[in-house]
This record gives sequence, C-alpha cells and structure tokens, in this order.
Amino acid sequence: MNEQEIFSRLWTDYTTQNPEAKNIYDCFRAEGEEVKNDHIAFRTFFDTRINVDVLARPFLTAGYEQKGYYIFEDKHLTAKHYEHKSRPDAPRVFISQLMTDHFSAGLQSIAKQCAARVPDELVFSNELIFAGNVWGPPSYETYEMLRRESEYAAWLYVYGFVTNHFTVSINSLTKLNSIQKVNQFLKDKGYVLNASGGEIKGTPAELLEQSSTKAGFMAVEFVEGTFEIPSCYYEFAIRYPDTDGRLYSGFIAKSADKIFESTDFYRK
Ligand code: NI
Repeated sequence: MNEQEIFSRLWTDYTTQNPEAKNIYDCFRAEGEEVKNDHIAFRTFFDTRINVDVLARPFLTAGYEQKGYYIFEDKHLTAKHYEHKSRPDAPRVFISQLMTDHFSAGLQSIAKQCAARVPDELVFSNELIFAGNVWGPPSYETYEMLRRESEYAAWLYVYGFVTNHFTVSINSLTKLNSIQKVNQFLKDKGYVLNASGGEIKGTPAELLEQSSTKAGFMAVEFVEGTFEIPSCYYEFAIRYPDTDGRLYSGFIAKSADKIFESTDFYRK
C-alpha cells in the first residue's frame, strides 16, 4: 500500500464514522478552498503487541520515517511523529500511546485484555490501522470506570484503531488563511470548538497554532445497550517558518496536551 491508498481508505472510514468532519470539509470546498491534510493521529496502549511502533509499520513500509518524540506527563502519554522521506506534501502521522503502568491495576488489566484479543494476523499485517475496535463490544460500565482515570483510555477502549482526527492545513487555504478566520468560519456554521486552554493552542512564536472541534456524538452499541458518546474530531493547523525559512514540521506537546481533550465526554 502506498501512502495515498492508506490515506484515502482512512479518510473514507473517518468520514463515514464522523459525518460532521465531511460536512466541515465540504464547507471549505464550497468556499473554493483546496483542503490539504497536515496530519492524522492514532491512539493506542503501550503494549508490545499494539504499541506506537506496531501501528507505525504500514507507514514505514510506505516510505515514512520517525521524526519527533513527545512526552505528555499530565496525560501519561508518549508519542512519535512520522514524515514521508521523499514526499514533503504527504501528511504527517502522529501516534500516541497510553503509559498504562502509570494507572490502576483495573485499567492495566483492561488494556492487557484488549491487546491480548488482537489477533496475531492483525498484529503482523498492515491492516491494524484500519481495524477499529478488535477487542469486542465495549461495556458502558467499563467505559465509565476508565473515564474516571483517563478519558483517552475510555475513548480508545470503545473505538480502537481508527483515525482520531484529520487536520486541515491552514497553510493550504487561500481565503481562510489564518486560524482566527478558520475558527470564526466554523463557529458561524454552528460548530463547537474545543476551548480547553483557549480555542487557539500555540502561538506564531512557537511556529504552530492549532484548534479543533469538539468530537461529534456517535451512537455506540455497548453490552448494556446503545449510548451516544463523543467520537472523533477535526483539527486545524497553521505552521510558521523557522529561522532558516522552512515551515516548522513538528508538534508542541503543551498544545497537543489540550487537543487530546477534544474527545472528552460531554453532554449534548
Ligand atoms: Ni493533531
């Protein structure tokens, strides 16, 4: 699979599961904008069967290489980001993992069960990134129990391996060419932004500004019945040139820390 095949498959799955993201994409297109993807993100548990390095494999095969490494102390996450070796226009890939051993025995045991239920053929194939929840129907009680410790763990337990977000590259937009304009455009259309830590994360001095929608709701079938809970979100990023004139290509841990909260549970 080359990277275009990977991204087009992921985009189809993501927009099917999150029609709101497709609607936002269509809004940009209706303004005459060409929408390029700055990066996508995945989440996983830190477990040798399914850690960041396992999820990264199909991207490495498609010509990506590891660039940045990040630590999120408050959220107990680590992450790596990847870029394509020869296609600077290809989206970056950001993969984070929950350091499960920082949490209770209960959370650790659920993460272990999830990882153990991933079939070997998926672990050793390029299909894991498309596989969604491969550990079976979630329990709402477990979801709530996980949420008390980590919203990230609860989200991952329900959704598994899906693209957590795509990201509109504001640098590729012509009319809506600032993050302020993009945010206003979205709010005028009635979309709700994640305001944790302010609507705009990062500053031009940090060379990266980001914002995101709050994840839309999805009806999920739990063992106990169907409940609507937050799903995935859409992100917006603008990058600034560093001192040698090249656009900054990394991520800012302090900003991403708040963006993770875009999938936190909330009431409609
Ligand atoms: Ni992101």
